[in-house]
Amino acid sequence: MALFLPEFDLQRFNTLAIAARAQFYVAVTTHDEVLEALAFARERQLPVLPLGGGSNIVLADNYPGLVMHIKLRGIEPVAEDAQSVWVRAAAGENWHEFVQHCLMIGCYGLENLSLIPGSVGAAPIQNIGAYGVELQQRLSELSAVDIRSGLPVTFTAESCNFAYRDSVFKHSARDRYIITSVTFKLDRAVRPVLDYPSLRQQLQLEPDGGAPAEAHFSAQQIADAVIAVRQEKLPDPATTPNAGSFFKNPLVDAATFAALQQRYPDIVSYPQADGRVKLAAGWLIDRAGWRGYRAGDVAVHSEQALVITNPGRGSGASVLALADEITRSVFSQYGVTLELEPRVYPA
Ligand code: FAD
Ligand code: EPU
Repeated sequence: MALFLPEFDLQRFNTLAIAARAQFYVAVTTHDEVLEALAFARERQLPVLPLGGGSNIVLADNYPGLVMHIKLRGIEPVAEDAQSVWVRAAAGENWHEFVQHCLMIGCYGLENLSLIPGSVGAAPIQNIGAYGVELQQRLSELSAVDIRSGLPVTFTAESCNFAYRDSVFKHSARDRYIITSVTFKLDRAVRPVLDYPSLRQQLQLEPDGGAPAEAHFSAQQIADAVIAVRQEKLPDPATTPNAGSFFKNPLVDAATFAALQQRYPDIVSYPQADGRVKLAAGWLIDRAGWRGYRAGDVAVHSEQALVITNPGRGSGASVLALADEITRSVFSQYGVTLELEPRVYPA
């Protein structure tokens, strides 16, 4: 039987450590409890917020609905062939522990995504990515429950419509499903992806070096290098509340980029297959003078200007007010509009 707790403080359950209450909170550990919680919400006509590690949300106010903390557990290989193993993980598994487990059982391909906070079930929502790998390259399918009907649904990788920090779950399927498990197609052989500059530097590879040297790294060595880079740049939410990158890296057209590069020859950019150019938002914010800024409870991380921190455990409003100031400053300096990465609730 699920336990429904009224007026529940969520401060411990979001990595920005914002104090805000859920009208009701329930932790679900089984499929039956998911269905019971959905029935509870339906009877009271409450919106449902599926919660994982709370590492990509901003609580702007109390949540007028049911927060369903997803605690479904379990990891199992479900199929294999000569090259691949399909591994299914329940939505409530911790992402990083799952990645480590895969390495331990000799299933490779997720090592570049080491140490990303949060749960397996949230990973498809924004198609998590880091150090040259995105979830969409490894996800095979996912299982979900329709919030309105309680019926099970399967999404193939294709039907998730993945893109950079984007999926169908941010558009037509927004707020419609509880993801219950995700199945990954992983490799039996290690295939290093070592193009990302800071990862190459960490592994002491030449900036434009070739494949032979790269073949010698084990998946665990790559994971350890990713972990080391992350620990250097990103604040640990356990000591410094934050939600990782607060903005997405913006995409601009080729003409806009050419004009910006004229003015800022050292601007950091990543050309895209469609001709557009992705800019490093952290660089834009840094060069606009924000890195290390602090005002009251909130701050801009001193090692990574893309990360807003909440050392004073201030309100969601104060975090969003700083984000707004940064957005306006970046627009006035570069004419580029930044978009928030975390989801703001209630919305
Ligand atoms: P939550 O914050 O709990 O939820 C996020 C969204 O997903 C919410 O809308 C929620 O309702 C929804 N959701 C959660 N679980 C489910 C479910 N089971 N079914 C349906 N919807 C669900 N992200 C990257 O992509 N790359 C990075 O390198 C990265 N680095 C980070 C570093 C730090 C220090 C931090 C704090 C965050 C970082 N993030 C990064 C962002 C974050 O870790 C990811 O977005 C992660 O997937 C969020 O997982 P979560 O369980 O904490 O999600
Ligand atoms: N940079 C600066 N100053 C800064 C921050 C960055 O000049 O204050 C420059 C760096 O020197 C580098 C470039 O900007 O040349 C990119 O920086 P970094 O490698 O740190 O990556 P990022 O683009 O800022 C993205 C993701 C991260 C992910 C890393 C590694 C987004 C929004 N963020 O950050 O994801 O871990 O790449 O792949 O795409 C997250 O989503 O929460 C997150 C942390």
